[in-house]
Amino acid sequence: MRKHVILFMALLVPAVGFTASESVDLEEVYVNLRDKASLQRGATLFSNYCLSCHSAAYSRYNRVGRDLGISDENIKKNLMFAGDKIGDLMVSTMPAKDAQKWFGVTPPDLSLIARSRDPDWLYTYMKSFYIDNKSPSGWNNTVFENVAMPNVLFELQGNQRAIYETHGDEKVFSHFEIDEGTGQQTPEEFDLTITDLVNFLVYLGEPAVLVRYKIGVFVLLFLFILLIPCYLMKKEYWRDVH
Ligand code: HEC
Repeated sequence: MRKHVILFMALLVPAVGFTASESVDLEEVYVNLRDKASLQRGATLFSNYCLSCHSAAYSRYNRVGRDLGISDENIKKNLMFAGDKIGDLMVSTMPAKDAQKWFGVTPPDLSLIARSRDPDWLYTYMKSFYIDNKSPSGWNNTVFENVAMPNVLFELQGNQRAIYETHGDEKVFSHFEIDEGTGQQTPEEFDLTITDLVNFLVYLGEPAVLVRYKIGVFVLLFLFILLIPCYLMKKEYWRDVH
């Protein structure tokens, strides 16, 4: 019986691993793949703010639409650039060669980014851009030092500055400050925006998770019903033994 309990518990453990391995303190993000509205907002943010540089070349627009409950019409209106077909892969229009020239590196494909970097890392990274006049893009990041990516969400977040303290000879990061009136969103709203974005990236890394959720319910229901004949059969077999 104990074996069954362990098996049952194992089924309940989510497939996504959450491990932090950076030296920077990571903020925790609440990922909820059942929140379709959040995933839809995340998908819109992704195509408006990320797809110009990054691809998600393992996904197709219509698959995302089907999984997240977005109609073809809304996919075309809100998620796609002109000329794309609904069955196309989500590929950036930026030629890799130009990207290399402009940024020094090609922006990586983000299909599996939530697996190679965990969700807490992504969440903290997206919130940790700060103004740095010494950097070519004008931005730097406390989680990813000297990153070549600019803060693409600065209009929402505002001009964020990193405040450092000196401890002896060392300059240690203390906290962030945002120039007043520069962001369209409050810090709380911006946190929710990044949560939606990370939620979508986690989905993107494993789209089948949503299908598994649906199947999982039926499997557990089936096993539960199966328990009844199994129990009756066990009683029947053991009757002669006792
Ligand atoms: C203007 C182009 C551009 C846009 C737009 C952009 N990025 Fe980037 N991004 C880059 C570049 C270039 C890098 C590589 C940085 C490096 O290696 O220094 C990068 C790196 C990243 C990384 C780190 C990947 C890794 O693990 O090395 C993540 C995560 C990321 N981007 C997420 C996003 C998200 C999410 C968006 C949309 C909100 C976005 N990016 C929009 C250019 C862009």
